[in-house]
Amino acid sequence: MKSSIDKIITGKSASAVEMKKLISMVAPSSTTVLVLGQTGTGKELVANALHQSSGRSGPLISLNCAAIPSELLESELFGHEKGSFTGADKARAGRFEQANGGTLFLDEIGDMPISLQSKLLRALEGRTIQRVGGNKDIKVDFRLVCATHQELKSKVDEGSFRSDLYYRINVFPIDVPTLAERAVDIPLIVNVILSQLNEDMGFKMPKFDQGAINALMSYPWPGNIRELRNVIERATVLFSGKNISSSNVKENLLRLKTPDADEERDALWEASEDLMGLGDSSEPAQVEIPLPHPAHYKNWFAYFDSIDMRRHLSEVEIVLIEAALEKFDGMVSSAANALKLRRTTLIEKMKKFMIEKPTLPGSEAKED
Ligand SMILES: Nc1ncnc2c1ncn2[C@@H]1O[C@H](COP(=O)(O)OP(=O)(O)OP(=O)(O)O)[C@@H](O)[C@H]1O
Ligand SMILES: [Mg+2]
Repeated sequence: MKSSIDKIITGKSASAVEMKKLISMVAPSSTTVLVLGQTGTGKELVANALHQSSGRSGPLISLNCAAIPSELLESELFGHEKGSFTGADKARAGRFEQANGGTLFLDEIGDMPISLQSKLLRALEGRTIQRVGGNKDIKVDFRLVCATHQELKSKVDEGSFRSDLYYRINVFPIDVPTLAERAVDIPLIVNVILSQLNEDMGFKMPKFDQGAINALMSYPWPGNIRELRNVIERATVLFSGKNISSSNVKENLLRLKTPDADEERDALWEASEDLMGLGDSSEPAQVEIPLPHPAHYKNWFAYFDSIDMRRHLSEVEIVLIEAALEKFDGMVSSAANALKLRRTTLIEKMKKFMIEKPTLPGSEAKED
């Protein structure tokens, strides 16, 4: 059983080992587990590991309480009978029934509307439910796992979470450590993420050198493993098949130095719109150099809930501009040529992004 947990949750740090030990101890029982931890720490993977090593033959059924409008949540959970509300043209089993014999994972339980909490509590206590619009008691056999990144106790204190429900679900809490707390696991996790990405995408994998790994290990990772995955995915696009150094990590992958005023970003966005007209240029046809394919982003929302698209595109622009300036020893007109931008547009972008010309060792950057 231990090995199936190890396969799902990478990590040899003391806090990861401790967490995996708790998982292996509680998994085979029917005890309710509450998974606690900051965003992106891997709470969903913990639920997965609990189910995989539970020995339960039924499925793992998940419901994200924050992602479903509260008026639909009740029928998602309990199911409904035909005609019970407008649009209910067929009877449907809810997640409780689907999870029969398996595990029910209620993610973001802190977002469960107070109006539904008493109904949930009754279902947990009686292990029977009624579909919306139905009056038949249906027996359900499930193992409950809940997760939240919120302080449930303070929600109880302020009255937005029922205390009886809190005590019902807080039987066996598992704290998922932040990535900063288990920074020693970063080299292992980077390898796991690289091999996952390698299977999914056509890019040649980059190689992080020791300095780059050290830089990743000393970053605070407010978005935890989700953010690390994001950074590595970006690295596969920007540094396909190349070596990545510590300064690449700091400047090109973790760089957050984009102008933060909204209007500045809007101005930037507009300034980059002239890129759209490039297809009409009357320059002689050249051999097209393959670019990272935009389809790479197709699966984005399978992994993430959102993307700051403008910031992300700005970061790609910054990397390309810096690389072009470096290649041409700070000669703005040559860099602009290589980027197929007008010189004035490039200067404008350098100002907006606060990019300076690289200084050459032993000399000033050449003027052009
Ligand atoms: N130990 C690990 N090894 C490799 N990848 C991991 C590990 N833990 C988490 N991940 C990856 O990190 C990402 C975030 O994990 P997950 O969705 O489980 O986090 P979460 O705590 O549920 O986040 P949120 O609070 O945002 O819902 C996923 O892509 C997951 O595959
Ligand atoms: Mg989650």
